[in-house]
Amino acid sequence: MKKLLVMAALASLTCTGLFASGQNESGAQFIGLAMPETHVERWQQDGASLKSEAEKMGYTAEVTFGDADQSKQNQQVQDFITKGADLLIIGSVNEGVGSVVADAARDDIDVIAYDRLITNSGDYDYYITFDNFKVGQFQGEGIIKGLDMDNASGPKYITLFAGSPTDNNANFFFDGAMSVLGPYVDAGELVIVGPAPMSSDDKANFTKIATENWRPEIAKARMENLLNNDAKDVVLDAVLAPNDTLARAIIEACMTDAKYDTVDKLPVVSGQDGEVGSVKFIRDGKQYMTVYKDTGKLAQAAIILADALLKGETPNVPGARLDTSSYDTGKKTVNSYLLEPIMVTQENYKEVFIGGGVYSEADLK
Ligand code: BGC
Repeated sequence: MKKLLVMAALASLTCTGLFASGQNESGAQFIGLAMPETHVERWQQDGASLKSEAEKMGYTAEVTFGDADQSKQNQQVQDFITKGADLLIIGSVNEGVGSVVADAARDDIDVIAYDRLITNSGDYDYYITFDNFKVGQFQGEGIIKGLDMDNASGPKYITLFAGSPTDNNANFFFDGAMSVLGPYVDAGELVIVGPAPMSSDDKANFTKIATENWRPEIAKARMENLLNNDAKDVVLDAVLAPNDTLARAIIEACMTDAKYDTVDKLPVVSGQDGEVGSVKFIRDGKQYMTVYKDTGKLAQAAIILADALLKGETPNVPGARLDTSSYDTGKKTVNSYLLEPIMVTQENYKEVFIGGGVYSEADLK
């Protein structure tokens, strides 16, 4: 009887290909990579880069995508734990991921919050991301430059969009942007059309400009609505858009309105991520700027961090700045590693994207 049970247990181990410790037949440790969504281009790239960086360093790894659905992602993370993951790297959908992060902690599995801080959790110690406040500052600076504010006569009109209200990054992007735009608003040189939070702390107004789960169809509908209501009697000079997916949805909405139906009539629109569609829009003058965050570098840095944690060493992550005091989950301050974003306009898009080997000339056709 005992022998049968052992055989059954062995058979089930062979099925999953993993032993309880997370080591598979080759003895490699296993890293679970949980990404939040695929409707924003970058995450597929993040997933692929994380997996290949992990494998390069001798780990086995699996990637999942949560389709912006936290219960789905929690199931995926739970599956990693069941399969005996040694470490988890999680780009969360929202803070509802906290329950499975707590499960991981109970099993002594290290969790690295990837790109997005996991708020309201005290069950992990490491976070790796870009300097997200700076991303927002670049968006604000891009808008000021695009509007040529130093030489502008008379006020300029701007409308504000933010990312998902459940993504902590959205606060950083917005606050970074408003740190630059705010003084112009205070001076009356920039007039906000529609809801006007001056920081993400103004939750009542921030919620009105936020875009649930970063869905482009929501941003597009809100822009159409603005054009027919709050912005009906003005010509918008700029739109603060928090990322490229939403920027293009906003630009598409503008182009259906006679006031903005040619490239030279479009408002100055910001973005982020350097998505191929937006790089083309920047080349064509439809989108003013983006912020490029090299996700290949982020993935590489995350695996270097993971490797140190799995070996019980003190992490040394080249190219990242360690910040031990700014990122508070609400339950604890986590060690955060920050990479530098790059601002991109028509002036330097070729150098960054083609020169940098991100896209080929053919990709931009
Ligand atoms: C990321 C952005 C991305 C957005 C939507 C944010 O957390 O930092 O790069 O555009 O999520 O997926």
